[in-house]
Amino acid sequence: MAQAMEATALKSEEAKPDILEKANAKTWDGLSRMAFAANWDPEDAINWNQPIELGSIKDGWINILHYFYEGEWQGLEIIQRLMNKAAHMFKINEMVTYYSTQCADEAKHLFVFKKYLYRLNSPPAKQRAFDILVWVSTTWIVPMAVERWILATYFTETLAGAIFQKTLELPTIDPIGKEMVRLQLKDESRHIAGTKLGVQTLMDHAGPLRTFFMKLWWKLFVKLAVKEVRALKPYGDQVGMDPEFILQKSFAKMAEMDEFTQKFLMDGFCQAFLNKTNAA
Ligand SMILES: [Fe+2]
Ligand SMILES: [Fe+2]
Repeated sequence: MAQAMEATALKSEEAKPDILEKANAKTWDGLSRMAFAANWDPEDAINWNQPIELGSIKDGWINILHYFYEGEWQGLEIIQRLMNKAAHMFKINEMVTYYSTQCADEAKHLFVFKKYLYRLNSPPAKQRAFDILVWVSTTWIVPMAVERWILATYFTETLAGAIFQKTLELPTIDPIGKEMVRLQLKDESRHIAGTKLGVQTLMDHAGPLRTFFMKLWWKLFVKLAVKEVRALKPYGDQVGMDPEFILQKSFAKMAEMDEFTQKFLMDGFCQAFLNKTNAA
């Protein structure tokens, strides 16, 4: 009897629909569950009534936030344009559910950045109706948009995580700024886990030719992205955040994926960052 009950329990366990998937960072539905459980309200989760005093770091901090606002907007727009395409391409419906949670997160991040920047009398610039970067990233004219997007996000999500982590260590950032960053960092950690799943999916589906073009794109993208991060140095200096330190942390984090490291981080340009981390 006990055995029969056990067998039935096992059977129903096997038949458990995906919807009952537990929250975990290893599957698309698991990550969606994590996102549902960690949802926060940008109006209530932060005490917006506190004063904001930034002193000499104000200009640098505002410039970094403007850069972030732009990046969040582009990120949101690109996910919305490509998530369905990615799900069709890999025949993984759950990708759409997960990426819709990431869209909701990025929209919240835009909300808090905007509200905070208004408090500092420096509202974000009006978004362009036509954004060349978003166009290049999503148009079918340039092939492999899904692959290029997922690879690029592995860098940008990891970078955001490293910047937010450093921000929390800076004594000069005001309590609202810290709270806003702390909440976003939780989301970004989940986005990094989601992007890892995406990168793994890409690598699992790509033959030698696709891998070759993915590597080519990565080489180009990573150089442009590093250049952009380095351009923030004057602002970074003002707030006490060294772009080289942030880049090293980001590369070290990306290298946690062995297969990715073997395929994408073995050239001199990427190794230079990893060697500095190893030497430290
Ligand atoms: Fe974000
Ligand atoms: Fe993100």
